[in-house]
Amino acid sequence: MRPLRPDTKLLTLSASRNDATNHELKRLTWFRSFFYPQRFSEEIFLTYPSNGQPEPGEVAVISIEVAREEEVRKLSSKLLAIMADTNSQVYRENVAKFGIPEEYVREAFSEESLLSARTAGNIFYIASEDDDILGFGQVVPRSKESVELDRIIIFPESTRRGIGTKLLHEIERDQKNMGITKIIVRTGKEELHARSFYEKNFFKETNEIEIDAPWGGELTLVQYELEL
Ligand SMILES: CC(C)(COP(=O)(O)OP(=O)(O)OC[C@H]1O[C@@H](n2cnc3c(N)ncnc32)[C@H](O)[C@@H]1OP(=O)(O)O)[C@@H](O)C(=O)NCCC(=O)NCCS
Repeated sequence: MRPLRPDTKLLTLSASRNDATNHELKRLTWFRSFFYPQRFSEEIFLTYPSNGQPEPGEVAVISIEVAREEEVRKLSSKLLAIMADTNSQVYRENVAKFGIPEEYVREAFSEESLLSARTAGNIFYIASEDDDILGFGQVVPRSKESVELDRIIIFPESTRRGIGTKLLHEIERDQKNMGITKIIVRTGKEELHARSFYEKNFFKETNEIEIDAPWGGELTLVQYELEL
């Protein structure tokens, strides 16, 4: 197990649905507190495939952390690799469906774009298992009290395991600690899965907006807000 960086946050997922998982939780908790006491956060985030009960040892430890420059670079290369497969579910559901041109996606997820967003004050929260990035959230400052969660994406092989919810909760906790009182999100009106994700997490619908998409055409977005 690689040493944790001081800013690594480990989270708990209420996945302890049977004794095997509880046992693993205790073992991992002990292991981390024993070896990294000064860096230890008592919360551990466990998850396993939703299509059945976990086998003993099948739990995963997911960390959620604020990306530094090197992780932003890694995120960019993961996103570009995923988006290069135009037959992938991510590409079909998030790019092709909206008629977004390939060049636009390549530019939006390039190292330069993500790093300059970070320099401009965006925060990238990355969920990973060991060194593998499972998803991320990008937070953009909007005012002294509010931020916009511009993107939250969990890659398809890791969805419906509670990781998106944990990532969202960690973003909320961290932003609240920084004095932010409101998180805004906007999503496509027809994006029912994203809307139910936000609604399940207590975001309130506040607005409907027609925008000119940067790649051309019009989009109807629904705005949600969460008071922290
Ligand atoms: C939206 C997204 C981040 C959710 O991540 P996730 O890890 O799968 O979410 P969770 O497992 O924590 O799900 C929490 C709840 O969200 C809702 N939800 C998530 N995926 C859903 C889906 N495909 N259909 C319907 N509801 C869904 C459900 O209410 C779910 O609770 P349940 O599993 O108890 O029914 C993920 O599906 C994703 O990355 N989608 C593509 C990108 C996107 O649309 N991002 C949001 C707009 S930027």
